[in-house]
Amino acid sequence: MWGEYLADSTVIVSGGATGIGAAAVRGFARAGAKTIVADVADELGETLAVSLVGEGHRAVFRHCDVSSERDVESTFAWVNEEYGAIDVVFANAGIEWTKDARHTTLAGWQRVIDVNLTGMFLVGRESLRFMCERARGSLIMTSSPHAVATVADTVAYAASKGGVNALVHALSLEAAPYGVRVNGVVPGTIDTPMVRRELQASSDPELQLSLLASSQPLRRVGQPEDVANLVMFLATPMASFITGALMSVDGGLMAGLPTGSPASYQD
Ligand SMILES: NC(=O)c1ccc[n+]([C@@H]2O[C@H](COP(=O)([O-])OP(=O)(O)OC[C@H]3O[C@@H](n4cnc5c(N)ncnc54)[C@H](O)[C@@H]3O)[C@@H](O)[C@H]2O)c1
Repeated sequence: MWGEYLADSTVIVSGGATGIGAAAVRGFARAGAKTIVADVADELGETLAVSLVGEGHRAVFRHCDVSSERDVESTFAWVNEEYGAIDVVFANAGIEWTKDARHTTLAGWQRVIDVNLTGMFLVGRESLRFMCERARGSLIMTSSPHAVATVADTVAYAASKGGVNALVHALSLEAAPYGVRVNGVVPGTIDTPMVRRELQASSDPELQLSLLASSQPLRRVGQPEDVANLVMFLATPMASFITGALMSVDGGLMAGLPTGSPASYQD
């Protein structure tokens, strides 16, 4: 289905080695796209690319720390040189940080902002440089519900994702005159290594996971492929009139107010 729109396009996925990014990498590669896994997790990224090549698809791993201007610039220059175009970029790399303000060191704050916000800026800036010149392309960024409503112990992460929402708006306005689109995806709780790491802090991770599932009106946690499907849609011409949008893929999480037990959704 996606092949009709995405075959032979060149796609960069930052944070593509695991979780949501890896699902997008698999989706794009299986649709026939030349897919670049840009990540700091060298072994995982390489293994993913090699397994897709083994299936007969085109995928390659490239070490890229999104918080490094040099890494991001050289990755984009290499992809453009190698493939002659950059059609789609999924700016997705991110790290978690679960501390309140009083326990957040300046170094901790800085690292989260460097990866989650400056990294998005650097990847977004390079995307627009190449895409606006060719007057075509789609950039998709991963935000979070924490950008608009959060909890007390996620201060740096929430601030970084609030910045991502603003970045989506600003970049979409800059890119629109060139026919280049910029959108954000806003995942709810998705079963990825990031969430699994956070759950490890609890005494009963599986119970915590089921509580998270029941807090989403569709009563399940999302799978990485749920997000990848939206990303792929936004990458295609089927989404040609969508730009500057922040689209939820959260099982209804952000639609409601916490009015009591999940059973209240059924009454
Ligand atoms: N899983 C969720 O429930 C959820 C919900 C909302 C938003 N998000 C966001 O989705 C994105 C992906 O998260 P995930 O859950 O798949 O996490 P994950 O930890 O499974 O994957 C994140 C990937 O980013 C890579 N990465 C980390 N720092 C990097 C850097 N400096 N440069 C390049 N790559 C780097 C990691 O190596 C990893 O492959 C993140 O931006 C995250 O904030 C996740």
